[in-house]
Amino acid sequence: MAKHTIAWMPGDGVGNDVMKATRLVLDALGFDAEYVHADIGWEFWCKEGNPLPDRTIETLKKTDCALFGAITSKPRDEANDELDPSLRDKGLSYFSPIVKLRQVFNLHTNLRPCKAYPGNPLNKLGDDIDLVVFRENTEGMYGGIEWFPLPEKIADAMADPEVGHPDRMKRWYERGLENVAVSTRIMSRQGCESICRGAFEYAKEFGRKSVTLVEKPNVLRETGGLITRVFRQIAKDYPGIEAWEANIDAMCMWLIKNPQDYDVLVAENMFGDVISDLAAGLVGGLGFACAANIGDDYAVFEPTHGSAPKYDGKDVVNPMAMILTAKMMLDWLGEKDMAARLENAVAAVIAEGKVRTYDMMGVRAGSPGAATTTQMAEAVAAKL
Ligand code: IPM
Ligand code: MG
Repeated sequence: MAKHTIAWMPGDGVGNDVMKATRLVLDALGFDAEYVHADIGWEFWCKEGNPLPDRTIETLKKTDCALFGAITSKPRDEANDELDPSLRDKGLSYFSPIVKLRQVFNLHTNLRPCKAYPGNPLNKLGDDIDLVVFRENTEGMYGGIEWFPLPEKIADAMADPEVGHPDRMKRWYERGLENVAVSTRIMSRQGCESICRGAFEYAKEFGRKSVTLVEKPNVLRETGGLITRVFRQIAKDYPGIEAWEANIDAMCMWLIKNPQDYDVLVAENMFGDVISDLAAGLVGGLGFACAANIGDDYAVFEPTHGSAPKYDGKDVVNPMAMILTAKMMLDWLGEKDMAARLENAVAAVIAEGKVRTYDMMGVRAGSPGAATTTQMAEAVAAKL
């Protein structure tokens, strides 16, 4: 029997290409695993009206963790148009399977390291950037509690003088509730504690000098206020680590200006989503942005990038983000030595600069001289 059981979910588009490339690397490492394929993505939305079939959730429950390529999602009307005709008008609506997986398995932490590897021509702001984003992954604006139009019942509750905001609600009544949409940002003390604690623990374990909370408590007074108080409280348990606070807008500017100043960043779901793409842009873009959705006893490893449908099956995209995501999986599984070997191999290929996918060369996909997805993976495997 293999040492590890891994759910294998290529998903959509280039998810297939980068997962194939990653498998080549994992095999070269001698990673001892059984891979169990699981259905997820657009194809299953179109055929079955469910991009995350129940059988997939059951499969995942029987594995140690999951490796996931990429997902396609489209706006509501387009999604409905592509649904099998026999499933239309059944009230089905598309939802993001990755957001649902985070909820179902309580994958509360989205860990997104953004490290510049020396020699990467895309490191426009320096070879010495090394940030880690801790993004809360199950709460905030991703809770799916939203309305359009705003039902009267909800509006009335929000305007109730005892618990609501009668004055502030006036203008929305004036505009007509049929013209008003509401998406909520719900955060719990537990959720805030868990992500802040995770960030400080990580900083302690890896000798990081600071943890920065990225928020907007001057405007989002209740939710932003809650996480700020929790952050300050938890910081007291880590006297050796500096605790900084920054507003999300200012942080976007500071990260472009002085990315080297920052270390571990912690944020609620939506701000973490924003800041992690920004941080990825500092270290070569989505072709290098690895990520892990981590819960107490399960994890789904998926790079930050999407499915890039136009490159599907063309073997052109950069697999480094997916390969580094697999490295995170190895770490999580306790295969520290393999993880380190893999990262060294990636760093060596980048430093050498002989094999580069199109994004690293600043040319169009498929241009002569650009390495294929497979060639990039083979170059990494050769270093092992
Ligand atoms: C990410 C992605 C997802 C998110 C999308 C695909 C739902 O942007 O993982 O950062 O918003 O969380
Ligand atoms: Mg995102």
